[in-house]
Amino acid sequence: MTSNRRTFAIISHPDAGKTTLTEKLLLQGGAIHLAGQVKARGQARRARSDWMKIEQQRGISVTSSVMTFERDGVTFNLLDTPGHEDFSEDTYRTLTAVDSAIMVIDAAKGIEPQTRKLFEVCRLRSVPIITFINKVDREGRPGFELLDEVADMLALDVSPQSWPVGMGGRFEGVFDFASNTVSRPEGGSREFLGKREDDPSLPEESAEEIELAKIGYPEFDEEAYRNGDLTPVYFGSALKNFGVTEMIEAIAAHAPPPRAQPAGDEQISPDRDEVTGFIFKVQANMDPQHRDRIAFMRMVSGTFKRGMKLTPSGLGKPIAIHSPILFFAQDREIADTAEAGDIIGIPNHGTLRVGDTLSEKNQIRFTGLPNFAPEILRRVKLKDPTKTKQLRKALDDLSEEGVIQVFYPEIGGQWIIGVVGQLQLEVLVDRLAAEYKVEAMLEASPFSTARWIAGPEAAMKDFEQFNRANLAKDRDGDLVFMAKSAWDVGYQEEKNKDLTFSATKER
Ligand code: G4P
Repeated sequence: MTSNRRTFAIISHPDAGKTTLTEKLLLQGGAIHLAGQVKARGQARRARSDWMKIEQQRGISVTSSVMTFERDGVTFNLLDTPGHEDFSEDTYRTLTAVDSAIMVIDAAKGIEPQTRKLFEVCRLRSVPIITFINKVDREGRPGFELLDEVADMLALDVSPQSWPVGMGGRFEGVFDFASNTVSRPEGGSREFLGKREDDPSLPEESAEEIELAKIGYPEFDEEAYRNGDLTPVYFGSALKNFGVTEMIEAIAAHAPPPRAQPAGDEQISPDRDEVTGFIFKVQANMDPQHRDRIAFMRMVSGTFKRGMKLTPSGLGKPIAIHSPILFFAQDREIADTAEAGDIIGIPNHGTLRVGDTLSEKNQIRFTGLPNFAPEILRRVKLKDPTKTKQLRKALDDLSEEGVIQVFYPEIGGQWIIGVVGQLQLEVLVDRLAAEYKVEAMLEASPFSTARWIAGPEAAMKDFEQFNRANLAKDRDGDLVFMAKSAWDVGYQEEKNKDLTFSATKER
């Protein structure tokens, strides 16, 4: 069976143009009526307080976490990776649910730190990447320099598919290699309005560059792309609509349809009849009046029908899914059917957790949805000590959602929370107050990182005995070594060869 589903994400450093490109893709896919609705823009977005408000209007952020649109018989599921300066596990986990990604790079800046981090996550999972070098309507770095930077910094073959005819003040359009056409800026806004020019005459300098670009880099090779060894590179301007259609067409033509997903030693094929999927994201308290949550399930196989009973691995007994949500941008629609590659939102009251497998027969467990070692650890202190129970509930909820990780130390009563980015801490304090009425403070903790430990029982016992002050349990009751430094981790690894100290935990 060949699937017409393409499930992908856009990865980029903040400000490279992800939001703008998303809007243009949705516009071309006919999914939204107005540009500018995907998220708050510009200054407003950057102001923290406004950002909080936006997040609290959960309706908006939920519809934009999954955006579905159709074009020429292909259904695209675009998953949003939260675009804050800071990183959260949410971002990593979303990348476990896609089959490919578009990497947006600012032509003036090249590869930036967050692009690189996100790229590494994609590489871990062999997620193939199409590169979009954005903002060529402005002055940027030379095309060759950008191509070489992608190739060198990411250790990838690059295969240019288009070329900017001048940049900035001398920008005269984008030349497309495959069709031998150029898209030209038109009118006062200098946007591309959709008409391509065949066999264009180009300035000599551009014609020479294009010749060099064609012969100097590998040709596009679909297999190498799908293996994650080669990235086709397109130049464009999301703002002015250059290269947007090319992105949609490239995803439709080359990006892989839904892939098989690992479940232990087995690979579960999208062609399997049984409905299976996994939860990669949970969003709680979308309506502060109700303690409802939406769990986002990536369908791995089968055809889901509304009302169907599926068994979540975390629960062990089946639940009927009566009002699943499909995400056509701007409208939440009740799903009647969904197939491999689709995302459905399942309203629930906390029974579904990130990492859970859902299936008809309850025999499969998807693997490879990692928890990541936190990079920032803080103690949580209550302003009102009588609120311990509420705090525990809140921390459990929020860790379930993947907002934070929580660690309960073996000795001492102060719980420790871990995050991968600073902004998560602010979100935590804000949400504790707003949603759980818990006033909490975060204090420095003596630890700087954490490792999940595993090994033979006797060795574990020994280790526990001597390191009690540095041990904690995570939400699932698994043992975690709280380390003061990376050196500390190295030292313990050296000393305890029977044990593994893992920076990620797979559920
Ligand atoms: P992000 O989601 O990756 O963070 O980036 P976003 O799309 O919000 O774009 C960041 C800024 O870059 C925006 O300007 C946007 O208009 C601009 N931009 C995006 N694509 C292009 C492009 O192709 N060419 C040019 N010249 N600019 C582009 P801003 O001033 O920060 O926001 P706004 O006030 O214009 O909304």
